[in-house]
Amino acid sequence: MDLGLKDQVVVITGAGRGIGREAALTFAAEGARVVAWDKDVELAHEVVAGITKAGGTAMALGGSVGVRQEVEAGVARALEAFGRIDVLINNAAFGDDAPLVDMTDEQWDRVLNVCLTAPFYCARAVAPTMIAQKYGRIINIASRAHLGEVNKANYCAAKAGVLGLSRALAVELGVHDITVNTIAPGIVRTERVLAQPGYEGLNERAQQRQLIKRAAQPSDIVNGMLFFASRTSGFITGDLMYVTGGRLT
Ligand SMILES: NC(=O)c1ccc[n+]([C@@H]2O[C@H](COP(=O)([O-])OP(=O)(O)OC[C@H]3O[C@@H](n4cnc5c(N)ncnc54)[C@H](O)[C@@H]3O)[C@@H](O)[C@H]2O)c1
Repeated sequence: MDLGLKDQVVVITGAGRGIGREAALTFAAEGARVVAWDKDVELAHEVVAGITKAGGTAMALGGSVGVRQEVEAGVARALEAFGRIDVLINNAAFGDDAPLVDMTDEQWDRVLNVCLTAPFYCARAVAPTMIAQKYGRIINIASRAHLGEVNKANYCAAKAGVLGLSRALAVELGVHDITVNTIAPGIVRTERVLAQPGYEGLNERAQQRQLIKRAAQPSDIVNGMLFFASRTSGFITGDLMYVTGGRLT
């Protein structure tokens, strides 16, 4: 099926590694022009080098998506390079776990900033362009953790907030033919997750609760992104797609 992504400009935050990196490589392979954005700009450059080597088109952006000025500057650079923005994927995230009684204000603020405020900054910065184009796709990456997880009050609250943000933007932007949807992954085999102490046990427990009895790969999440980014999904907005192998608890 042709997803209609050829030459589309796709901005992906947190594209330097993990799910975001897989997304950047996959969208580029579909013919999209990719803006690979990561605060670790070296990683973003490596992703762009891989895309270019494979014959695709991409540019790297550095800077934190949690800083308004850096978001505005990054979006301006993307527009300068490619002239339009069709798809925004708010994927960058950051966790800093602690039991509630030990969680500091800084831990709370840092996680809320990257996981919730940054998607707001990025959506606000691309919206004027998408409104002028009368076309856009915003895809926010939340987490199954919005249902609650131990030692993650900051992350769970931020990801639950992403659901509310997505709904609000879908309501506001639908009139401009801009869709806004959310993907909530379960546990996914990324470098970060694999490096966590006790990953094997975590993964085993996750799989016991999943209906599909295997570990999720980044590509499982990217398949959901491709669908929401495609022309095919143009009548679907404000929606939440769980990509958890059927695990909800
Ligand atoms: N991996 C999982 O098991 C899992 C589960 C549920 C949800 N998710 C969600 O999927 C998304 C991707 O997860 P992942 O595991 O690939 O993450 P990851 O930690 O492997 O990669 C995140 C990337 O975001 C970048 N980043 C962090 N803060 C940034 C900032 N302020 N500005 C710009 N870039 C920044 C990091 O440098 C990193 O390259 C996240 O939204 C995460 O919450 C992941």
